[in-house]
Amino acid sequence: MTEKKRILTGDRPTGNLHIGHYFGSLENRIKLQHEYDTFIIIADVQALTDNFEHPEKVAANVYEVFLDNLAAGLDPTKATFFIQSLIPQIAELTIFFSNLVTVARLQRNPTVKTEISEKQEIFGESVTFGFLGYPVSQAADIAFLRANLVPVGEDQLPMIEQTREITERFNRIYGETFPLPEALLGKTKRIKGLDGKAKMSKSLNNAIYLTDTEETVQKKVMTAVTDPQKARKTDPGHPEVCTVYSYHELFSTHELPLIAEECRKGERGCVDCKKNLAKNMNDFLIPIREKRAHYESNKAQTMQILKEGTERTKQEAEKTLNLVRQNMKINYDL
Ligand code: TRP
Repeated sequence: MTEKKRILTGDRPTGNLHIGHYFGSLENRIKLQHEYDTFIIIADVQALTDNFEHPEKVAANVYEVFLDNLAAGLDPTKATFFIQSLIPQIAELTIFFSNLVTVARLQRNPTVKTEISEKQEIFGESVTFGFLGYPVSQAADIAFLRANLVPVGEDQLPMIEQTREITERFNRIYGETFPLPEALLGKTKRIKGLDGKAKMSKSLNNAIYLTDTEETVQKKVMTAVTDPQKARKTDPGHPEVCTVYSYHELFSTHELPLIAEECRKGERGCVDCKKNLAKNMNDFLIPIREKRAHYESNKAQTMQILKEGTERTKQEAEKTLNLVRQNMKINYDL
């Protein structure tokens, strides 16, 4: 039997996961876990690059993000979960990779650029070595497992691009070692925030979390922005500019044509439309909440999954690093 191809993807443990994460990456992880040998990284080292003053926050969110993945439908008998900081080989590979990328190239990475400008408060005039270099560490996250496919949201594309450049360069200099990984985008490129902003994000405080209660979802949906030209029910609406409609596209697929038609004809009020959406979102979240409760009530067993996953990952890491040292001709015979 030929070995299954590998997936590596994961999350920074800085807060709970929201529906943007779900449609950006989780949905693909869940779908492909049967077909690929799937590894999920809980990227605590990466989270520290902009939370180095709050390591306790990162540590507390390791468990949260792990539970979010399980609750969403990752099957622990299919997917292998691990904590980044417990795999020292990733740090080792990051050092080797850091010779294969220039500072100028890192400064051009569009995601890093945006993040630096958003994090003035943390970095002030000059960004840290660690933050600027996190794409190198992310390349090592992907490469140490010799992963083939990386399901991610659109904002992560520059990271996969840099990973390909680094691994290609490594292969050229030291000989064929790593497969070139491909990114896989979710069905919606980017999910809007409740406030209509282009991106749903924790820092913008405009997200619906997988952990939100039924009541919270109802309340949040009521605050979502709609078509500003539709002030009353009888005004004809424009679904293509409406944030609520963009959510219907994800949660109300069975009734979508009807929703659009009624909105356009002025036969559908925004309040009813939102109630309808909240109901469908909650229907979607019910099984996720139930699974979370199940894993939470068996905490010892749940932690065991993470422990065993980290053990298995360590073994795989050592295999790759042996190959790396051999190909780099630094496998001293001592
Ligand atoms: N950068 C990703 C995020 O912010 C998390 C992450 C860390 C990741 N290492 C990874 C994603 C490797 C894919 C592959 O969500």
